[in-house]
Amino acid sequence: MKPKVLVSCGKLNFPEDVADKLRPLADVVYVQGDYKKELDEAKAIVAGGDVVNEEYLKGAPKLGVVARFGVGYDTVDVEACTRHGVYACHTPDVLSEAVADLTWALILSWMRRVPEADKYTREEWAKRQRGFPLGWDMGGKTLGFLGLGRIGVEAVKRGKGFGVKMIYHDVVRRQDMEAQYGITYVPFEELLKTADIISVHVPLLPSTKGILSTKQFHMMKPTALVVNTSRGPVIDQKALTEALKAKRIAGAALDVFEVEPAPLTEELLKLDNVIVTPHIASATWETRRKMAERCAESIKAYLEGKRPPFTVPEQRNVTF
Ligand code: 8YV
Repeated sequence: MKPKVLVSCGKLNFPEDVADKLRPLADVVYVQGDYKKELDEAKAIVAGGDVVNEEYLKGAPKLGVVARFGVGYDTVDVEACTRHGVYACHTPDVLSEAVADLTWALILSWMRRVPEADKYTREEWAKRQRGFPLGWDMGGKTLGFLGLGRIGVEAVKRGKGFGVKMIYHDVVRRQDMEAQYGITYVPFEELLKTADIISVHVPLLPSTKGILSTKQFHMMKPTALVVNTSRGPVIDQKALTEALKAKRIAGAALDVFEVEPAPLTEELLKLDNVIVTPHIASATWETRRKMAERCAESIKAYLEGKRPPFTVPEQRNVTF
């Protein structure tokens, strides 16, 4: 009997022709909803947003690889995987450009009121009852990047043509990037106080959870825009909602939320100084295919008895 590979992120993300690359070695089974029973026999999984923890792994005695369909692996307990002899893989690099593109799409959409302008053109323009409100220039603004990893760097590269001043804060100072892109390192507080736009590009870790909360919103300019394409819980959503309602900051452009899908009752979704997208930063045909291929490569290598290529950094020196 062939080993079983589960796919929980759907055919749109992990298409049949990518699954075909694994089929000489394994049976590929697309799963949905509660797939606990399938885990019994599973050798590998391409995991969407599934929480992979101790309990999950206990129910998957034959599992050797969790290939997370994404770069962020906050849903995967890597220590538990290591204890169980399971490789935790992800899809770094291939989505950095797509996420940076959406970051800029959000920044520009908010600054030039694009979603509002679309609605106005369809529903109001011809009625000539009111003019459309003005937006803001990019030129001369200070753009603050919180986090300068792969995605942050791609976002910086895209900023080069806009005549903005770019500053960043990260736990790791990137002098190479400072020299290459003319970007300036600043302490966290200075970034909060001086940036006109703050774009978040940090992974979700215990140290980054709620890194932007009431205290930080108080330090920002009242004209500041906060952009988040990383992980929802990095921002204290209740505190953000309060700051936006009180006009303590000017706006937010968000692709990620504390709870996803964001409930329709979520107060943030009712505010007109916020623009939102449904966690689509990596959602392009080209990028999702590359992500699928990366997951398939990791699983294929494992099924052939090799070490999977895209293990998470914590497992860099681990071989089971
Ligand atoms: C999602 C992401 O993984 O790469 C990440 O960490 O957040 C996204 O690419 C994607 O929505 C599929 O779960």
